[in-house]
Amino acid sequence: MSRYKSIVVLTGAGVSAESGIKTFRDGDGLWENHRIEDVCTPEAFARNPGLVQAFYNARRRQLVGAAHPNPAHLALAEFERQFAGKFTLITQNVDDLHERAGSQNLIHMHGELLKARCLKTGAVVPWNEDMDSTTPCPCCKQLGVLRPHIVWFGEMPLDMEKIEMALEQCDLFVAIGTSGQVYPAAGFVQLAAAYGAHTVELNLEPSQGHNLFSEHYYGPASQTVRQYFETLS
Ligand code: APR
Repeated sequence: MSRYKSIVVLTGAGVSAESGIKTFRDGDGLWENHRIEDVCTPEAFARNPGLVQAFYNARRRQLVGAAHPNPAHLALAEFERQFAGKFTLITQNVDDLHERAGSQNLIHMHGELLKARCLKTGAVVPWNEDMDSTTPCPCCKQLGVLRPHIVWFGEMPLDMEKIEMALEQCDLFVAIGTSGQVYPAAGFVQLAAAYGAHTVELNLEPSQGHNLFSEHYYGPASQTVRQYFETLS
């Protein structure tokens, strides 16, 4: 029996790094050779939709063709299956590796790469293929109205009400593989702590906000996640 009743886990790019998906803030400050602001903002999409679509097409192809859940994704899904309390997994990642590993109560706060959104109707549909300005929207049949279902900089993260409720109720908050540089996710640790949760950071190295956590374990997620969650079972 775990000593915790309600657990919230926040994951970032570091949890998928060992599945071959590049993190955002590697040493050169570029993401797959692009400045984040050239491919991850609504302004970039308005200015150069072809570049943004090509960028996400490449990410989607990599995800569908080559990426697989790693031991960190699997350990989280396995823990959730046997945990008797409430378990909420919030991910900033747009890949589907948590669901492929078997995670159930999962929130994609920054959207999903394998979904498309219609700019006309707001409808969100599953999407596994390339898209560009000549792709007809499956719902309204118009051309040039589909965009990746991704939350870009300057846009509102998804499911914030549900997230805040989970943070207020949890007695353990664990952040895994996130640099703590992007809000609101970077502030979740403070919110959870303010409501009395114990806070833990699992990361390759101390994150920007590491001193906000009361416990830390550093190393590759494929090792630290299993090791840490085994101590809770
Ligand atoms: N195991 C654990 N942590 C790792 C590993 C690993 N194998 N590899 C890298 N990391 C850590 C890095 O040390 C870094 O602290 O993962 C973190 C990744 O940080 P970012 O690249 O900044 O990713 P993230 O925090 O998820 O970014 C947040 O920014 O660009 C936006 O919307 C995008 O969701 C993303 C958000």
